[in-house]
Amino acid sequence: MTPNDTSRRVAHHHNPQAAAENPYLDRHRAIISRRRFDDARREMVRWPGYEPTPLVTLAGLAAELGIRTLWYKDESGRFGLSSFKALGGAYAVFRQVVEIASNRLRRPVHAADLVAGDARDTIGDITVTCATDGNHGRSVAWGARTFGCKCVVFVHEGVSGARVAAIERYGATVRRVSGTYDDSVQFAAEEARARDWIVIADTSYPGYSDIPKDVMQGYTLMADEVLRQLPAATLPTHAFVQSGVGGLAAAVCGHFWETLGPRRPRLIVVEPDRSACLLASARAGRPTKVRGRLETVMAGLACGAPSRIAWDILADGADDFITIPDRVVAPVMRLLAEGVGGDPPIVAGESAVAGLAALIRVLAQPDLAAALGLAPDSRVLVLGTEGATDPDLYERMVGRTADAVADSRMTSG
Ligand SMILES: Cc1ncc(COP(=O)(O)O)c(C=O)c1O
Repeated sequence: MTPNDTSRRVAHHHNPQAAAENPYLDRHRAIISRRRFDDARREMVRWPGYEPTPLVTLAGLAAELGIRTLWYKDESGRFGLSSFKALGGAYAVFRQVVEIASNRLRRPVHAADLVAGDARDTIGDITVTCATDGNHGRSVAWGARTFGCKCVVFVHEGVSGARVAAIERYGATVRRVSGTYDDSVQFAAEEARARDWIVIADTSYPGYSDIPKDVMQGYTLMADEVLRQLPAATLPTHAFVQSGVGGLAAAVCGHFWETLGPRRPRLIVVEPDRSACLLASARAGRPTKVRGRLETVMAGLACGAPSRIAWDILADGADDFITIPDRVVAPVMRLLAEGVGGDPPIVAGESAVAGLAALIRVLAQPDLAAALGLAPDSRVLVLGTEGATDPDLYERMVGRTADAVADSRMTSG
């Protein structure tokens, strides 16, 4: 039942700098903090359509894999946008427009004033922009529509037509740029400078960190939901978190580290083997780019350069870095769609399954499993970061439509 192709071993780097008992320092808190989380949570739980996403216990798969517990945080329903990214870009848009509206109206403005109130009219001239491989752009477009400003999104040549259509559905203008994701990031920055637009990037570079910080702080709502949903006094021993630029992994790492201290789970960063910029950075001991076309079926993870502020947390807090090849992705999507040993069927997109695929591959290599401290009593958290964000691709990879899988869940439940 599990992808048993172990012909190529998993690339692994252990970070000797990350010990659970290390304190969470002010320089980490300047990036991800409980205080800014409280502000974010207060606003975001009042946004239209907010609901915590489910934390699903996959007891059947855990038994097959020989671990005690496996939790899957299912982000496929987040704000109707099908990915955890809905939390980040939209929160950063909100933070920008709320500040502009508050200045213009000379009074504090809240989400409700922008969603339906008079403050909305004051920001109609503002344009936000971003580069995306799909999910981040959808979040920024949704944020712009929800809070009342304009939006232009740049996509690179590898982004599918279905993902472009999903962004346009929220009223954004989408422009295609040749090259990779990193090229589209640069293009968006140049256009914004020329036209006085606000760049809402999910990655930070020297001189640009405030907005990606808000994006990452938005993601911490997902990590916090997990802590509220776990059974009392039971924490995960391990968290496998898939990464593109590292913003998600750093948000989860920072939030767990500050909240749980030494009880935090061992954090394993998972990347596609063709775009493993965080593994390269960990090996080099500094932010490091990987070159090439970065092509991977895990579209959300195809990034060649780490986010600087994400790296600043992961360099101290991520315990391990590992990579997976593309060929393990579809079998894990099918595994989740079928459900193992009575587990509910789950609709998981290509980037969503990377953490779980890595866990499965590590467990197939006993020496590596031991190096990561995985044992029969391990309790593992994986983040199912997206649903079928490209429904045609999902159907081709799984052999059934996402709707059919979701229906089978209803009948099985
Ligand atoms: C579905 C999904 N999972 C994980 C990630 C990784 O997030 P980050 O780029 O912050 O590492 C992305 C990024 O776009 C994504 O779309």
